[in-house]
Amino acid sequence: MKTMETSFGFCVIFLLTTMLNSGSATLQVGFYRSTCPAAESVVRKAVNKAVARNPGIGAGLIRMHFHDCFVRGCDASILLDSTPGNPSEKEHPANNPSLRGYEVIDEAKAELEYLCPSTVSCADILAFAARDSTYKLGSINYAVPAGRRDGLVSLRDEPSQNLPPPSLDAQQLEANFARKGLSLDEMVTLSGAHSIGVSHCSSFSNRLYSFNATHKRDPSMEPKLASELKAKCPNNGGTSDPTVPLDFVTPNRLDNKYYTNLKKHRGVLTSDQTLFNSPSTAHIVRRNANHGGAWANKFAAAMVKMGSIDVLTGSQGEIRRNCRVVNY
Ligand code: HEM
Ligand SMILES: *[C@@H]1O[C@H](CO)[C@@H](O)[C@H](O)[C@H]1NC(C)=O
Repeated sequence: MKTMETSFGFCVIFLLTTMLNSGSATLQVGFYRSTCPAAESVVRKAVNKAVARNPGIGAGLIRMHFHDCFVRGCDASILLDSTPGNPSEKEHPANNPSLRGYEVIDEAKAELEYLCPSTVSCADILAFAARDSTYKLGSINYAVPAGRRDGLVSLRDEPSQNLPPPSLDAQQLEANFARKGLSLDEMVTLSGAHSIGVSHCSSFSNRLYSFNATHKRDPSMEPKLASELKAKCPNNGGTSDPTVPLDFVTPNRLDNKYYTNLKKHRGVLTSDQTLFNSPSTAHIVRRNANHGGAWANKFAAAMVKMGSIDVLTGSQGEIRRNCRVVNY
């Protein structure tokens, strides 16, 4: 009898733990339906206001979600400010000075703390904001599974080991995304985000002025694009570092023109043009260029998948009260 009770009790505990674990491992669409019904509309309102004023902020928020998810998972580590003696991810050259849109997250968070204190995570706010930017700039809509929790750690040097630099070729990009559980097709599909926003000249100026020992200019760049970029990017060793659009055709529209540009050798970054130059990805570029609707659907699905990388859930992490600092 005693042993039966013990094993029954054990079973209940086992089942409960299993349920809690599996429950905590998955994100859910409508996670805040009962705890904070305004969560998603508050974020959307803040994003729409900011993007109407400056579409570049929408590009910044989509990129910010990517830079969050690839470093320690989607845990809002990108949002933490440095503290004395601990420079955060924000300070890494991949993020500073180029990453933008932090104030939009702050604004949504402030309103949500007023409406439903300590309830909506910064990681979820960022995932919603990336979705809302995608909708506003590309009319691509998708539901965001939520329930992420906020991490406690952000280290300046971690982006180096996780974010792909723009010098990578297709094979290296494939390996980088595979480490985060994303496929080759998803890598090419998500690169379509470079159909909006800007790049600093320093991210590609080697392609204009110092390509390699035999070629000053990257021969895989259309000469006309090279002259256009040279006109905007002085060969000054980086004393000034202007920005240029990543997509010269529709710079503020998230669409598949990016892939058409690559077919014309008008990709700005090495990591863009390599997708058309490499046999392993050229057919995906062609397909995305020819089928905008199918690309948009794949983009939405890949954003959801990227948004689930190494998330904290359940009782892991915390719900930050201020997205810039961990709770004390
Ligand atoms: C495939 C590997 C990728 C590389 C090597 C890469 C690299 C870069 C670089 C170097 C810039 C320009 C930064 C600057 O100089 O100002 C940039 C901008 C941008 N990236 Fe990526 N990126 C990649 C993938 C992605 C992904 C997956 C997304 C989102 C889904 C994304 C979204 C963006 C956006 C929207 C911008 C423009 C940002 C703005 O205007 O503020 N990128 N990326
Ligand atoms: C320079 O780049 C060109 C074009 O990619 C390539 O064919 C050539 O082998 C490279 N030269 C050197 C010295 O790396």
